[in-house]
Amino acid sequence: MREPQAKAVHLKDYTPPAFRVDTVELDVDIREDHALVRARLEIRRNAPGPLVLDGDELELVSVLVNGKPADHTVAEETLTIPEVPDAFVLETVTRIVPQKNTKLEGLYATKHGFVTQCEAQGFRRITWFIDRPDVMARYTTTVRADAKKYPVLLSNGNLKNSGSEAGGRHFATYEDPFPKPSYLFALVAANLEVLREDNLYIYVEPGKLDQAGWAMDCLKRAIAWDEKRFGLKLDLKEYKIVAVGDFNSGAMENKGLNIFNTRYVLARADTATDVDYLNIDRVVAHEYFHNWTGNRVTCRDWFQLSLKEGLTVFRDQEYGADTYSRAVTRIQEVRNLRAAQFAEDAGPMAHPVRPQSYVEIRNFYTLTVYEKGAEVVRMQHTLLGEDKFQAGMRLYFRRHDGQAVTCDDFVQAMQDASGIDLAQFRRWYDVAGTPVLDVQGSFSGSTFTLTVKQSMNPPFHIPFCVKVGSQERLLSVKRPEEKYTFEGLKEKPVPSLLRGFSAPVILKYPYTEAELLHLMANDDDDVNRWEAGQRLAAEAILDKAGKPSPAFIEAARRLLAHPDAAFAAEALALPAESFLAEQTEVVDPDRLHESRNALRRNLALSLRNDFSGIYEKLRGKGAYSPDAASAGRRALRNLSLGYLGELGMSALAYEQFKSADNMTDSMAALGVLANLDCPERQPALEAFYARWKDEPLVVDKWLAVQASSRLPGTLARVRELLVHPAFDIRVPNKVYALIRAFGANHVRFHAATGEGYSFLADQAIALDALNPQVAARMARSFDRWKKFDDGRKARARAQLERVRDTKSLSKDVMEIVTKSLA
Ligand code: BES
Ligand code: ZN
Repeated sequence: MREPQAKAVHLKDYTPPAFRVDTVELDVDIREDHALVRARLEIRRNAPGPLVLDGDELELVSVLVNGKPADHTVAEETLTIPEVPDAFVLETVTRIVPQKNTKLEGLYATKHGFVTQCEAQGFRRITWFIDRPDVMARYTTTVRADAKKYPVLLSNGNLKNSGSEAGGRHFATYEDPFPKPSYLFALVAANLEVLREDNLYIYVEPGKLDQAGWAMDCLKRAIAWDEKRFGLKLDLKEYKIVAVGDFNSGAMENKGLNIFNTRYVLARADTATDVDYLNIDRVVAHEYFHNWTGNRVTCRDWFQLSLKEGLTVFRDQEYGADTYSRAVTRIQEVRNLRAAQFAEDAGPMAHPVRPQSYVEIRNFYTLTVYEKGAEVVRMQHTLLGEDKFQAGMRLYFRRHDGQAVTCDDFVQAMQDASGIDLAQFRRWYDVAGTPVLDVQGSFSGSTFTLTVKQSMNPPFHIPFCVKVGSQERLLSVKRPEEKYTFEGLKEKPVPSLLRGFSAPVILKYPYTEAELLHLMANDDDDVNRWEAGQRLAAEAILDKAGKPSPAFIEAARRLLAHPDAAFAAEALALPAESFLAEQTEVVDPDRLHESRNALRRNLALSLRNDFSGIYEKLRGKGAYSPDAASAGRRALRNLSLGYLGELGMSALAYEQFKSADNMTDSMAALGVLANLDCPERQPALEAFYARWKDEPLVVDKWLAVQASSRLPGTLARVRELLVHPAFDIRVPNKVYALIRAFGANHVRFHAATGEGYSFLADQAIALDALNPQVAARMARSFDRWKKFDDGRKARARAQLERVRDTKSLSKDVMEIVTKSLA
């Protein structure tokens, strides 16, 4: 039986709220098997009509309007009070069961207590409310709980009162001076330990304080950076981060009380890799930056999500670029954008940076809203330059501080502050798909002419950074076809195009192999040097069965000696199979996998001495430090180990595994062994688990490294791990480590038998009953199924249909699978 399709919400239907909420007084009393929520709201009318409040899985106990019982109706997702005055006090009492909340949205139980997650629509799972971001109110919150079990009671704002109550219970009352939308509400009642420096607090599970220091260091650097680069100061008396192991996403910017996945807080040299350290830095900074871009100025409606997310990702990217290597940071962003966001934009979930409709907003926290959204802000930065962009930011805050606004308001501030016309630029927000720039070069006399055609119609405004000879220019591509001339050249130049990846487009230019080799060796833009190498590698894989030309091998050899080891490691890392798949008409995952491995083997054979030399030379000295230079050396050394692994040097990897004094080197070695059918594989995996079975985040690595293995037995092993004590389907981190990692394992997920598809479908169905948001993310593993051969397509379709036809499927998963099947 198919259920009726859930309704879509449309941007064009936006209307301002019929009522405003000025103040919220909440009293959340957490009991053994339920919680009682008392809410007192001061409400004012804005438009005629009944009062309609949102609610989700709430049990209404009582409702009063101005102290008196009122006529009301409770439906599946609303509480309606037909007759209310123009200004009144609404009091409700509601019973909820956080102990049974497996969706991890609203108030829910985690290992050591209770926490909330309200973005986007979780507040309605705590109490009845006009749960939309353009309703902003002042909150006073009292939390009550058992004093022994939950000694820490927190909410947004400043502590006003606290004390003990009968029966070994206690309470705390917080007042948040800033009006805020409900999605920024948070509370915590838990047993936690705290690391404090001045007005900064990081709360972690008991026994984990020795893993909180790095996050504190990151937070302090992020605060200093935002003041220096954006002139934005911390506006709070207290800023708190709480880390919990059960969390659907990475972290959440609740006003003054961020709640984080432990994955983005906890780090110690022996438990966290360099990449973990870097990610923690970026996520701590990201949530901190939201305090201005998101919280002080918020979104009018959820279609504007990129207003805060795209802008804040741009800010955390710039923080990364200023803190680490700008080139390497940019290369990593481009790699991720093209491998994942371009695929999203070419698939069934393609949508504009500002979507025009959605069924379930949770499905729109996407690479497009985040990463492409950040590119759209970056392009404005490129067109305006730093000074005018900062003037635009100042104007944006002057106009909109304390308001809920739209992406147009942001662009308008940029335009008004700079005097640069951004009318045409706005199309980037509202049109889905990746533009193609088709560029041709012609040389005659001493003039080089670039002809630029763009695929978008009506055309986009595209900042196109180029260098021809010694002439560097920022071209503003605005028409369907543009011509640009460069004079005074002695010979035909090799143009350096789309420098720094100045726009999120697919660039076509008929470079010869010799020209790409020239760019790989000489371009003074490191992103383009890297890009030339990636193009040559992709050609070797797709057109030459993984056989590189001697000239490419020599160019790779020279890049290995680049003074920035982190750059060298990026330059020698081959494009991912998922990225390569996008370049082919009909994907043959087995052949792709074979050819890519062949290129790795061929490079390893030709550069064996270079890799061995690097491996010896870059041996770590002294205590572990996560700084960029040391991390870069480890990245290059471990890249070399990976190539040497292709030559069967498993003993070397095992040696490193056994002697490593940090998780980066340990994990790199384990990753090599996990991909090899060698005698050291099993003992290494067993030793790793035995040592780390009590550190959940390290166990996640152990699950992921097995689920990502290219060996043919991977699915069978994943099935075993499903029933292993290390796995728990109710914990999102475990699901991401095992199931999502398998879904991203290109060659194994897309097995010709279809067994990968039926496995993922089983898991999506099982998860849907517990946590639809996480289930929907798993269902997205199927996104690109239509790019495969008929056999695989039929098998994938059958599984998607099976998921779609599952009884009581959530609208989260329903939206993903119906769009995928359409
Ligand atoms: N506002 C989001 C948190 C969020 C995510 C709420 C999904 C509701 C649904 C937060 O600021 C965020 O963007 N977190 C990212 C990490 C960030 C560094 C891109 C995340 O959780 O993955
Ligand atoms: Zn964010």
